[in-house]
Amino acid sequence: DETIVLSELAKRMGIKANEMIVKLMGMGVMATVNQTIDYDTAVLVAGEFGYEVEKASFEEEVILKKTTEDDPEKLAARPPVVTIMGHVDHGKTSLLDVIRKTRVTEGEAGGITQHIGAYHVQTDKGVIAFLDTPGHEAFSAMRSRGAKVTDIVVLVVAADDGVMPQTVEAINHSKASGVPIIVAVNKMDKPDADPDRVQRELSEHGLVPEAWGGDAIFVMVSAKQNTGIDELLEMILLQAEILELKANPDKLASGHVVEAKLDSGRGPVATVLVQEGTLRAGDSVVCGMHYGKIRVLQDDLGRTVESAGPSMPVEIVGLSGVPMAGDELVALADEKDARQVSQHRIQKQRSKELAKTNRLSLEGLFEKM
Ligand code: GTP
Ligand code: MG
Repeated sequence: DETIVLSELAKRMGIKANEMIVKLMGMGVMATVNQTIDYDTAVLVAGEFGYEVEKASFEEEVILKKTTEDDPEKLAARPPVVTIMGHVDHGKTSLLDVIRKTRVTEGEAGGITQHIGAYHVQTDKGVIAFLDTPGHEAFSAMRSRGAKVTDIVVLVVAADDGVMPQTVEAINHSKASGVPIIVAVNKMDKPDADPDRVQRELSEHGLVPEAWGGDAIFVMVSAKQNTGIDELLEMILLQAEILELKANPDKLASGHVVEAKLDSGRGPVATVLVQEGTLRAGDSVVCGMHYGKIRVLQDDLGRTVESAGPSMPVEIVGLSGVPMAGDELVALADEKDARQVSQHRIQKQRSKELAKTNRLSLEGLFEKM
């Protein structure tokens, strides 16, 4: 393992443990003779004495690399992953509801989306994966995580409200991650809808409509009256075609956690967007700091599925703990490897926290002096 007891490290370097303790204190790390120190700290302190530390033990990167190498011949077209972004209440969830022909909005507390929903939609012209994001500013961190797995952003702007702070935030997120934007001007049914104003305001942020000589795609829609939806889906699939999205479905899966929770009956439950390979029931996985054997996979309608390929969001049960949104999930051939990687990560995290508290207590000490 990548930790070593301080006295042992001192012994191997042929120095006194006390010398090392003093040196570590100088680096802001409080440690006692019998305390373990993590690899990174060991490298630093050894360097101070002119030593190099060689990592002879287990390396998680090696195990993980084995499963992520790709064979170009096995790449196949995959559905686009589309994230719906926009200001609060501009109609993101409503739009997804008409696309999915469901009524998620009605089930939401106060009509405000609290988490990222991941959906898989079979349209007449092809499959699209959608991520619904909350518009409230408190969720901007989650939104930025959402952008990491996104191929296309659909920016929803209410025609009666125009460009608002979270509209601008969404534009900036998309630009920063190089994701193409399709603008959906929603609520066109409203009497005070002013699409010209929306186009003007968005032009100021670099989104100039094609009709005005720019290259931004605008679609006028109404989630309420179900108009413009087919055109929106068409534009998404057209954009996806240009992107030539590909993945290898024929290997162990990897993907990212969209959301996760502790379910009183089922234990840790995570919604994962599979990005490469195929995830199957029985697979051993590492997920953030946790590991496990996938017991059940369910699609966004709660149906049990055997497997999930690229761009497919699935809910999984069987993890040792609740991962965080944005955590990576990797399936491994060997269950022992999965546990080992997880333990390794937990240990690394603990050492980090320990180093942090040590540093803090040292600072406190100096303050008192
Ligand atoms: P957050 O998740 O809280 O950011 O909101 P949201 O963007 O998902 O908006 P949501 O779909 O919850 O819709 C907000 C309100 O606008 C609801 O009352 C909807 O009924 C209404 N609404 C959505 N789309 C339309 C539309 O096309 N026309 C009209 N008239 N109202 C709409
Ligand atoms: Mg919503």
